[in-house]
Formats: sequence, C-alpha cells, structure tokens
Amino acid sequence: MDRLLITGGRKLKGSIAVSGAKNSALKLMAACLLTREPLTLTNMPNLADTRFLSQLLASLGVEVYWPKGDSECRLNAAELSSTIAPYEQVRKMRASFNVLGPMLAREGHATVSLPGGCAIGARPVDLHLKAFEAMGADLKVESGYVKAAAIHGLKGATIVFPFVSVGATEHAMLAATLAKGETILENAAREPEIADLADCLNKMGAKVSGAGTSTIRIEGVESLNGTTHSVMPDRIEAGTYAMAAAAAGGDVTLEGAPVQALSAMVDALQQSGVTVDTDEGAATIRIQRNGHDLKAVNVDTQPHPGFPTDLQAQFMALMSISDGTSIIRENIFENRFMHAPELSRLGADIQVRGKEAVVKGVEKLRGAPVMATDLRASVSLVIAALAAEGETEVRRIYHLDRGFERLEEKLNGCGADIRRVSGEEE
Ligand code: UD1
Repeated sequence: MDRLLITGGRKLKGSIAVSGAKNSALKLMAACLLTREPLTLTNMPNLADTRFLSQLLASLGVEVYWPKGDSECRLNAAELSSTIAPYEQVRKMRASFNVLGPMLAREGHATVSLPGGCAIGARPVDLHLKAFEAMGADLKVESGYVKAAAIHGLKGATIVFPFVSVGATEHAMLAATLAKGETILENAAREPEIADLADCLNKMGAKVSGAGTSTIRIEGVESLNGTTHSVMPDRIEAGTYAMAAAAAGGDVTLEGAPVQALSAMVDALQQSGVTVDTDEGAATIRIQRNGHDLKAVNVDTQPHPGFPTDLQAQFMALMSISDGTSIIRENIFENRFMHAPELSRLGADIQVRGKEAVVKGVEKLRGAPVMATDLRASVSLVIAALAAEGETEVRRIYHLDRGFERLEEKLNGCGADIRRVSGEEE
C-alpha cells in the first residue's frame, strides 16, 4: 500500500491550478444515463472516485471513452445493458447510488445496492428514497438492495426535505428531469455543485430553475439530448491548498479557483490573520503568511453557503498551530473527527466532546507516523505534516487518491517535500 513521506517546515511558494470538482463530476457523470446521446465532460478530475464511477457506468452498458490522465470524458448511454448496480461496485463509493434515479426515470426500473463510502458516521439514503416515492416509484429494500419501479414513469411532485441533503437534492433533480409534470424541491441544498449540475441538465434540454437557491423547480421533459459541459473547479481542493499554504507559510496563488463558492473559507482564513486576496474575474486566490501568529478562530460547519464540512479537518490542522483555543463544531456528519487523534500524534492538542472539538494551538507540531481514515481527514494530516518539524509518514493514502488529483506534484511544485513510497506492508 502506498504511503507518503513528508518533510515539513518548508514554506510554500508558487501557484497551483485547481482541478475539476470531484463532487460535481460524479453527479454529472450519472446524468449521462438520462440520454441516448453522448455527454462529453471536460475539466474532469482523474481520481479514484471518478474512475470507479466510469467502471460502474461501463458495467451498465455505457460506452466510456476516457483515456488515462485525460481531462475529457465521453459517455454514451445509447443502450443500457443492465439496470442493476451491484454491491461490489456501489460499496466502494457512496455517490454511485446516484445512478438509481436516472435509470429509474429513463427505464422505469432500477436495482441498486445501498451505498458504502467514507467511514464518517451513518449516512442513510432515506431522503433519496422518499423523494422517489413521492414521484410515484414503488420501492422495495431487500437484501441490501433498493429495487425501484415506476412502470408508467415518474410523476412530478412537491418534495419538502426535512433537512438539507446535497445528495438527495441532486438525485431528485436528476430523476425529475424526465418525470411527467413539475417537481418542486423545497429546502433544497444550495451547494455550487448543484447549480453546475442544473446548468448541464439544462444544456441537455431539461427545464430546471432555482438551482443554487432553496427552492428548485424542474419541469419534466420527454427526452434529453447530449451536450458538452465543463466541470466546475473544485472548491474543496482549492480550500485545502489555501489551508496548506496558511499552515506551512509562504505565498501561494490558486489559479482557476471558484472564488465566490469559497467565501466562508476565505472569511475564516482572514479572521485567523492570513492575508487572502481574491480576484473573482481572474479566478485567483492568493494566500500569504510570513511568520505572523495565527489567531484562533471558531467554526461551525453548515450547508452552503456556510463553512463546508469537507474543509473542517483541514481547518482543524491549521488551528492546531494557532495562538489560542479554537472550537470547531461539526453539524453535518456524526463521527467526523477521526483525524483528531491522528493530528494529536503530531503533537496537536485536541479534545473532542460530542459535536465539538476544542483545539488548543501548540507552538510546534512534530513529524510522526499517522494513518489516514477518510478522504478529507487524510489531507488534514498532509497539511499538518507540511507545518511540522521533521518527517511524517502518512499511511492508507488510498483515501487521498479518491479525491485529490496529483497532490504531491501540485504541492511539490510550490516547494513542499512529499514522496510517495509504494508497495509497503501496512
Ligand atoms: C455530499 C458530498 C460530501 C459532503 C456532503 C455535505 C458528494 C459526492 N459528497 O455528500 O463530500 O461532505 O455532501 O456537504 O457530493 N442524510 C440522511 N438521509 C439521506 C441523505 C443524507 O440522513 O437520505 C444525512 C447524512 O447522513 C448527513 C447529512 O444528511 O448527516 C448531509 O448529507 P448530504 O448532504 O446528503 O451529503 P452527501 O450528499 O452524502
């Protein structure tokens, strides 16, 4: 299994190009199932997760043309050979569950395994299922599989989500594009990736309005066409490198960054005393920290436009070297503090109390062997390692490869010292 060896204490200087957003790409890829015409996605991130999904789509009969390392992916779902997504494939990544709605809407039936995915607490799909039931689908959950049928097609419905769910909003939106009549999603998630998906669906001939607000309206259409769509830049990747630069110190410019989508993160960094200059027109964010103390800042994760849960672990790594005590509250997922004990191995002082982590800044972190536990947690260890004195070994980095494209290359390009070592026993 690959490991990373990181020698910390070097300032970062240079620029980093932001890749396409994993979380957007995964839903855009599922949208190919809604049409018999080709969907071409550009600015695609080459990641373990997007590759997994392309394999799942291929197993359903989608023709996938996506050469290794290429940022353009062509998906042609002219004919589906199967509407069954097996456990073996869905368990690897939760977002694979999103193939259910499009197949149900197009074919009138689909059988999809209940998802696995990150170990960040119970992550049910009840809201997804309730949305399909409201659209007239007949659902059975048997032996770990959801069997869904809508023989006469899905019908538009008003769906009021009891709480905000990104996945359920996107999934219901995908399915509703081919339903008969209008679907209204109330208390919808407002994440920028939802607006990106709606843009692509509208180019495919769908009638979606209000994406990015908490009420989304979808007027169902008979059929959708193919299109070409560029995946939006990854706000979580951009935010991660912003925090890496803040933690290690130096001067880093993020190129092609979704500036608007990152305002909560930019606010938090500025409050901590880091110099952050944004230029929305040029799509750049410049982060500078040269030896100033970091102020402790409290954050509360919230649905967009609040502080994203997917940047919580990275912010905790940064706060672990702040000059004071920061309270970090995780409101979206249970059990999303697994990085705290690993950060403590590097010398961080973190006490977890239920939904809150109390992070007392320490003067210095020191390199140590650590273990990645989930995608965002693993990158928080990289950030801490960059700021630490000495060498850190990060194990189980397959988590990292799920969501960060060419991480070592991007950070080493700014002067970091990160080496990947292959083939070592755990
Ligand atoms: C997506 C993102 C993930 C991000 C999260 C929140 C992708 C591939 N993943 O995950 O990176 O951290 O949004 O911004 O886009 N819930 C239920 N029932 C449901 C659905 C969700 O109880 O049917 C709960 C979840 O367990 C969680 C909360 O709702 O506690 C929010 O989850 P949700 O917004 O759905 O996250 P995901 O779409 O899974």
